[in-house]
Amino acid sequence: MSKKLVLGAGIVISLLLSPLSQVSADELTGGERKQVDNVAHRGAAGYAPENTIAGFDLAVDMKADYIEIDLQRSKDGELVLIHDTTVDRTTDGTGKVGDLTYEQLKSLDAGSWKGEKFAGEPIPTFEEILDRYYGKVGILIELKAPQLYPGIEEQVAEVLKERNLDKPQNEKIIIQSFNFESMKKMDKLLPKVPIGVLTSNHADTTTDSLEEFSNYADWFNPNYGNVTEELVHQVHTLDMKIGSWTVRSQEAADFLFEMEVDAIISDYPDYVDPRN
Ligand code: G3P
Ligand code: CA
Repeated sequence: MSKKLVLGAGIVISLLLSPLSQVSADELTGGERKQVDNVAHRGAAGYAPENTIAGFDLAVDMKADYIEIDLQRSKDGELVLIHDTTVDRTTDGTGKVGDLTYEQLKSLDAGSWKGEKFAGEPIPTFEEILDRYYGKVGILIELKAPQLYPGIEEQVAEVLKERNLDKPQNEKIIIQSFNFESMKKMDKLLPKVPIGVLTSNHADTTTDSLEEFSNYADWFNPNYGNVTEELVHQVHTLDMKIGSWTVRSQEAADFLFEMEVDAIISDYPDYVDPRN
């Protein structure tokens, strides 16, 4: 059964009555801009090492609405934060994440590559991040390459349930992935937690694809090269939200503001919220 209600006249009427529907994108400047969630990609990854406490603390200081984290699993079953499926790029070690024990991963330096002042930053665990940040900032959880880690969906669900985070949380926990089958499974395991699908594939933006995603997803999150006004409208018509990535310039952020997306996922939170 569809997760989303089929759109009815009520939603159409509410869209027509929405103040935002009555102003053009050109008018949405300065203080009148649509409210957009500011998502700090891998932490404030432009300024601090990605997927580390240093980066997430900075994102909180910069008043991000969410931190985005990449989740994988160690050889001995610990859920850890790292983007690549090997540790080579972002640590002083080598090898596949899933071939290393948590003790081995924990001993790596995940900060120095970004600058000496970050030397010694460790790879954090998922549980550590939930306990440190839940309630302070939203957490956009990406299951990275879940096909490499059989059963990771059940494990993530269990960790969230232990903390009562499987209930509606004003969308302060969202789970997303490029792996659509994994997200279908996640939606069944945690039906009240918002689910996102990630894609950089233009073929996933067709009406048929979007309708299929709307059966289990609450967010459609494409890279910004695929975003058009029409796509944003289609996603909204299917009662999903749209978040786009990865913003690394002011121009890209401004483009997404103009497109009226719901979330901007950026390495530089200050491009989205100029208070910083
Ligand atoms: O949240 C969107 C973004 O993280 C997807 O790409 O490769 O940075 O994980 P990637
Ligand atoms: Ca990610």
